[in-house]
Amino acid sequence: MFPKKGASEEEVLEELKIKTSEDLTFDSGRILGSMCTYPHPLAVKIIEKYIDRNLGDPGLHVGSRKIEEEAVGMLANLLSLNRGYGHIVSGGTEGNILAVRAFRNVSNVERPELILPESAHFSFLKAGEMLGVKLVWAKLKEDYTVNVRDVENKITDNTIGIIGIAGTTGLGAVDDIPALSDLALEYDIPLHVDAAFGGFVIPFAKELGYNIPDFDFRLKGVKSITIDPHKMGMVPIPAGGIIFREKRFVDAISVPAPYLAGGRVCQATITGTRPGANALAVWAMIKHLGFEGYKEIVRNAMELSRWFASELKRIPGVKLVREPVLNIVSFSTENLEDIEEELKARGWGISAHRGYIRIVMMPHVRRAHLEEFLMDLREIIRKV
Ligand SMILES: Cc1ncc(COP(=O)(O)O)c(C=O)c1O
Repeated sequence: MFPKKGASEEEVLEELKIKTSEDLTFDSGRILGSMCTYPHPLAVKIIEKYIDRNLGDPGLHVGSRKIEEEAVGMLANLLSLNRGYGHIVSGGTEGNILAVRAFRNVSNVERPELILPESAHFSFLKAGEMLGVKLVWAKLKEDYTVNVRDVENKITDNTIGIIGIAGTTGLGAVDDIPALSDLALEYDIPLHVDAAFGGFVIPFAKELGYNIPDFDFRLKGVKSITIDPHKMGMVPIPAGGIIFREKRFVDAISVPAPYLAGGRVCQATITGTRPGANALAVWAMIKHLGFEGYKEIVRNAMELSRWFASELKRIPGVKLVREPVLNIVSFSTENLEDIEEELKARGWGISAHRGYIRIVMMPHVRRAHLEEFLMDLREIIRKV
């Protein structure tokens, strides 16, 4: 019920404390199946300080708009592009929807179709439905990357775009983006890479010597990339990123916003009023951590994943779905649903889907948490 009279700050805070005590928190070490993490303290400070900035009205917050542009520029550089065009958005979902919207709008097709891997994130279901774009699913190979030949077979005159994934949600698999890029160039179809998760992992992992295919703008067929700072970028939610190679894609999704206090502008994002503080936090974290800082975060996450995968292999009845590529390890067992239920009952923040449980080595995940998880898993498997 909407209260007639207000409560004191203390009362409100106390009630919130009680109500949120049901939440799992990242510092508990129990959340092993999320792509989010506790944000960096500097980013938290920035959110508080600049909480009022609205990038939906950039004429008012001119400084913040320039900082967003710089953040987009730095993300583009990380993805091997000198100058990129795009925005800091609400997350991977918005990034993917904007890419599909741009591809649809630059095409001249009446019944648009999008080819995407069976492993694609469900945000594309939203994109397809909202934008009236038919989704054409391409099969996966045994290693769970997209079958490029199947993608080619599915190209028609109605194809407005191809999706490749650099870090699938379930397994962290990286599609053969170089082959998809060649295909895209051959058929003159734009390729969007969903690197919502992998974007803040792969550039650093490659530098550390991990063998991962190229996935970014150095491949000429790649026209846009989703990269999320609120995943491995240590920035508070909401902070996604969409980067386009060419300005025409942003122009194709821009609408005039005539009545704003700061003057007339065009908006390309789905959200109108949107948090400037989060864009500033993206900028600040990149400046503060730099390539070397992120590399160390990724080094730990990747090493932990390899260790965890080797421990899982030693448990009878547990099967790795595939060798980890990024910092995601997924495994299957017999009676998976019973095991999932029991793990959840013991307070673990994990979920099973597509026949496996996935563990994401986010920065809040420590070896001690995983050791405890492994102990529980061994015990439950023996019992079930
Ligand atoms: C590959 C991929 N793309 C897109 C998304 C959607 O991101 P968000 O939840 O930030 O909208 C996710 C989220 O897990 C993802 O893994």
